[in-house]
Amino acid sequence: MRFLILGSGYGSNAEALLKAWKDGSLGRATPVGILSDKADARILQLGPRFGIPADYVESGSKRTVFDPEAEARWIAAIRATGAEWVVLAGFMRVLKSGFLNAFPRRIINLHPSLLPSFKGLHAIRQAHEYGVRVTGCTVHLVTEDLDGGPILDQAVVRVEPGLPLEDLETAVHAAEHRLLPTVVRAIAEGAYGDIV
Ligand code: GAR
Repeated sequence: MRFLILGSGYGSNAEALLKAWKDGSLGRATPVGILSDKADARILQLGPRFGIPADYVESGSKRTVFDPEAEARWIAAIRATGAEWVVLAGFMRVLKSGFLNAFPRRIINLHPSLLPSFKGLHAIRQAHEYGVRVTGCTVHLVTEDLDGGPILDQAVVRVEPGLPLEDLETAVHAAEHRLLPTVVRAIAEGAYGDIV
């Protein structure tokens, strides 16, 4: 199963995936590259480090969505990689129907909460401010329903009373770094046949 990673920022989850690939624990899943909508994103530095292509794709003037030209450019760039699956790992754009219909039920997203709680931005902070006692992270199929597509898997993080936000962020990220490689491997093994 060939997958492509899309990200906008630091890329710690992409790094976890690529480390899992290098140490043989991704099974039949193979990364074909990394694409970013931010030319200076640290995630692009992972390409040379792990020996896979990593490219910036020009994304138009809008900040959170693609204009039609940018959307067409992205679809072409993804198709050119030969990827069968697209993994959003910190990709901070909202994908609309034109994009989603180009890769039907083949785009997954990692979100730092137990969906359907705390959709949208700053999910860890939202959970912390709400005062939940458990939170976690979710990998789901991307649909037009923002952070609302079918759930593939989740991991739980306990929030002890008084836990500082920074410590919760560290714990959720650690859970993400375990969950995402597990799900990508499982997709390659044909799990989730009932969902995808
Ligand atoms: C991750 O926590 C991911 O769940 C979140 O961005 C972070 C990216 O970190 N994604 C979203 O909030 C999507 N709505 P990373 O660049 O270090 O992997």
